[in-house]
Amino acid sequence: MEIATLVNFKEKFHTPPPIWFKSIKEEAYKRISEAPFTEVCKQADIEGMKILDQNLWPFIELFPRLVQRGYLKLLKPKLFFRHGFFNMISLVYQSVVFLFSIKSDEKIHSRLWVDAGVALGLQYPEDFKNPPTPQTRSWIEEVSNKSDPTEMFFAFTSIEIIAESASHYLLGFQKFKEALGEKGIGWFTVHTIDHGDISHENLELRLAFAFDDSSDESTQTKARRIILGIVDKFLAAANAGI
Ligand SMILES: [Fe+2]
Repeated sequence: MEIATLVNFKEKFHTPPPIWFKSIKEEAYKRISEAPFTEVCKQADIEGMKILDQNLWPFIELFPRLVQRGYLKLLKPKLFFRHGFFNMISLVYQSVVFLFSIKSDEKIHSRLWVDAGVALGLQYPEDFKNPPTPQTRSWIEEVSNKSDPTEMFFAFTSIEIIAESASHYLLGFQKFKEALGEKGIGWFTVHTIDHGDISHENLELRLAFAFDDSSDESTQTKARRIILGIVDKFLAAANAGI
């Protein structure tokens, strides 16, 4: 039983993302590229872009800590019971290593977000102290309330998809790039680098699948519900005040 579970777990962890995952990413990209906030960026509306930078900041500032704290959601007796003690030790160990490295990268990314704001004319730290808007608070809540490991890793995957989609799309517009300049564009360029198999998205996705033991809902339905649900919360936060 234990060996069978372990093989099953390892298989899940090493299996590449299923075909249907691509359609979720495509849907996320479509929703983001058609959102009102992108117009502000494409037109290089500096005042609108400043509001966008400030409105999204509370999430971006908090995200590295949300990722770091993620391991706490893995330390539940029922998970050790469900997946087997030795599987869980190995799974928690791998997760902690990934989560801490992702947290460090996201900390660097949050500084790049500040650089974008400063390039637009904001002052740090005084212009980055606004309390979160209701929409940004709701986006934070949607990501942080995932107590099940699979749901949590899908939530983190969603953030990677949002960052990558928005960056890929907006970097296609010259006015946008010129508005940010070389010093302000870093957050967007860093999210278009293809890290392939070891990307955050891929690692988070593999952990989501490894922990999954869906019985009430298929993995595909769960992934779609969580990832696109968070994309919609992000869009509400990004479109607020535009
Ligand atoms: Fe990032």
